[in-house]
Amino acid sequence: MEPAVSQPEPPMAKSWISSSSLVLLLSLAMVTLHLADATVPAIFILGDSTADVGTNNYLPESTARADFPFNGIDFPFSRPTGRFSNGFNSADYLGMYNWQGYSKLMGQRRSPPPFLSLQNKTSRLMKHIVRGVNFASGGSGLLDTTGLSLGRVIPLGEQIQQFATVRNNLTAVMGPAATESLLSKSVFLISIGSNDIFNYYSSNGNSNKEEFLIALKSKYEDHLKNLFNLGARKFGIISVPPIGCCPSLRALNPTGGCVEDLNDYARAFFSTTEALFSKLSSEFKGMTYSLGNAYEMTMNVIENPLPFGLKELKTACCGAGKFNGESPCVPTANICSNRDEYLFWDLYHPTQAVAELAALTLYGGALRFVTPFNFSQLAEVN
Ligand SMILES: *[C@@H]1O[C@H](CO)[C@@H](O)[C@H](O)[C@H]1NC(C)=O
Ligand SMILES: *[C@@H]1O[C@H](CO)[C@@H](O)[C@H](O)[C@H]1NC(C)=O
Ligand SMILES: *[C@@H]1O[C@H](CO)[C@@H](O)[C@H](O)[C@H]1NC(C)=O
Repeated sequence: MEPAVSQPEPPMAKSWISSSSLVLLLSLAMVTLHLADATVPAIFILGDSTADVGTNNYLPESTARADFPFNGIDFPFSRPTGRFSNGFNSADYLGMYNWQGYSKLMGQRRSPPPFLSLQNKTSRLMKHIVRGVNFASGGSGLLDTTGLSLGRVIPLGEQIQQFATVRNNLTAVMGPAATESLLSKSVFLISIGSNDIFNYYSSNGNSNKEEFLIALKSKYEDHLKNLFNLGARKFGIISVPPIGCCPSLRALNPTGGCVEDLNDYARAFFSTTEALFSKLSSEFKGMTYSLGNAYEMTMNVIENPLPFGLKELKTACCGAGKFNGESPCVPTANICSNRDEYLFWDLYHPTQAVAELAALTLYGGALRFVTPFNFSQLAEVN
């Protein structure tokens, strides 16, 4: 069965698999065309459910999934795609779709497909990898142990191994020099950390918080070094939002307020990440980054929602129980009609409207939201 997230392909495509020289020629032609017209030739996306565009649909044992209604209700044809959203997520808006009339952000025509949708499909793989691939997996984290209780997720370390495979495939087609050049101009978008914190906090609270954050930073550093060694140079990073304000956490708080302990973790994680990137970019020649402060971006919206057209900041659009935060968005859940007025789509994730706002802020925002410069400036770094 064709998975819901795959792009339509001519029925002939499968028979091309054996004709590898044709595939090669086509791929090379596309690379040449593409490099000529884009600042950022490809985007490789890694992370968790905030960036997952259907990875977990390919993991039958995974319970971290969104490939059922009402997810996707505002996606073209109201299709549930595995995105934890009523429509697109931030990875899509950064990816980028312009066939819907959205502005062309990083110069891409649309968001890269999940790696697992390309595996074992040579023609699709070669067609897409020159523009980028999405490895993000809902429920995953920086630590391999994060998400273990969800049946199966792909931790960041394994996502990087998958990227190494893609790099081999690029090298096989383009040769090492062109691959190195392509990767050095590409953006590596990473949105991760929340699940590690949720996981740790749920069993340890605030005990040994400093040690935990140091361990997390050290793991992040290992991952980034691995990516750098594989040719990644430009990093677009999204830090952890005020996760204590998610409907699921408000529902657990007797006062209905944000769980401040978790927000403290989110702020500390941002500082840690900022220090890490500042250090690594001075150590590694050619490494540049733009770090989005999802905490500040979200707080700005919560404090001042009206200019953004938002009216409901606490209750999820889709879910059940207190703040619609006690159950995931399943076909029997409550669902709101004015979805663009909601900050939260479900118990953890933002609506499509807020995902788009986040992408626009990352792309063109001021220093308070994205440092040391914004994603559009990152795209232009030579
Ligand atoms: C790809 O092929 C390998 C080996 O045949 C198999 O183990 C794997 O499950 C396949 N992956 C997908 C996503 O179909
Ligand atoms: C991609 O690379 C991997 C690892 O080197 C290899 O196993 C796989 O066959 C390659 N895929 C294609 C389509 O060349
Ligand atoms: C962010 O990006 C825009 C271009 O999109 C640029 O003109 C602007 O100067 C940047 N803003 C800041 C505060 O750096």
